[in-house]
Amino acid sequence: MGIFSRQKSFRSHTPFIPQGNQFEVNMWETSEFVSKKLLPVVSYHPFPLSELVFMVAALVYTRPDYLFEWGTHVGKSARIWYETARAFDLPTQIVTVDLPPDVEHVEQPGQRRGELIRHLSSITQLLGDGVTTSLAYARDYSVVRPFFFLDGDHEYASVLRELKAIHKRYPHAPLIVHDTFYQDDASGYNCGPHRAIKDFLTSHLDYRHMETALGLPGMTLLLPKL
Ligand SMILES: C[S@@+](CC[C@H](N)C(=O)[O-])C[C@H]1O[C@@H](n2cnc3c(N)ncnc32)[C@H](O)[C@@H]1O
Repeated sequence: MGIFSRQKSFRSHTPFIPQGNQFEVNMWETSEFVSKKLLPVVSYHPFPLSELVFMVAALVYTRPDYLFEWGTHVGKSARIWYETARAFDLPTQIVTVDLPPDVEHVEQPGQRRGELIRHLSSITQLLGDGVTTSLAYARDYSVVRPFFFLDGDHEYASVLRELKAIHKRYPHAPLIVHDTFYQDDASGYNCGPHRAIKDFLTSHLDYRHMETALGLPGMTLLLPKL
């Protein structure tokens, strides 16, 4: 059983219902969707194949009513969520947030913000701080079963703040953090998201976590224990 309900199948395929209680999706269906439908639209950068499959599997399994994500940047991840929800008939509304253009940030997208989703009117695009804006929207729209995708500022303190804010309001919400690949200090990588999750989980034991762990950039799914 998924967190919120059973998954539906990809288009015309036979519905897939896991018999056990652990996370499971039909990997042939997700692979077919990623290779035939998703890759031609979003390519494998910045999200490699393993992460595309991971994102699709998480959304299909959890079937949230809303997917909140930040930051939007050019709109790759928002497009991935949108295409997945459409292909698998999920009841998921997509809300994506990025910083206003006058806020300086090393990855500020400027004029390119949302260019892959500009024509998709069903995706809600907002400006502001990701977690603050998303939670305000969730309150205003009485959101019950959200999923969060954290891909904004990758500093330790920012990610930890976002995780705590989400948990306080929605302790049963699944979430994915991007850029979580861990390598030791000699690598010089930004290990902020990885450390933030590790510290968060020491005081929040009510999550299982799954990750893509072969190389950069890396993705971690936190799934509340039932
Ligand atoms: C790595 S990019 C995100 C890539 C994007 N998810 C995609 O698929 O194209 C990081 C983005 O987060 C935005 N950002 C940074 N801090 C933020 C915050 N506190 N709230 C919302 N967006 C933020 C940046 O402006 C930038 O566009």
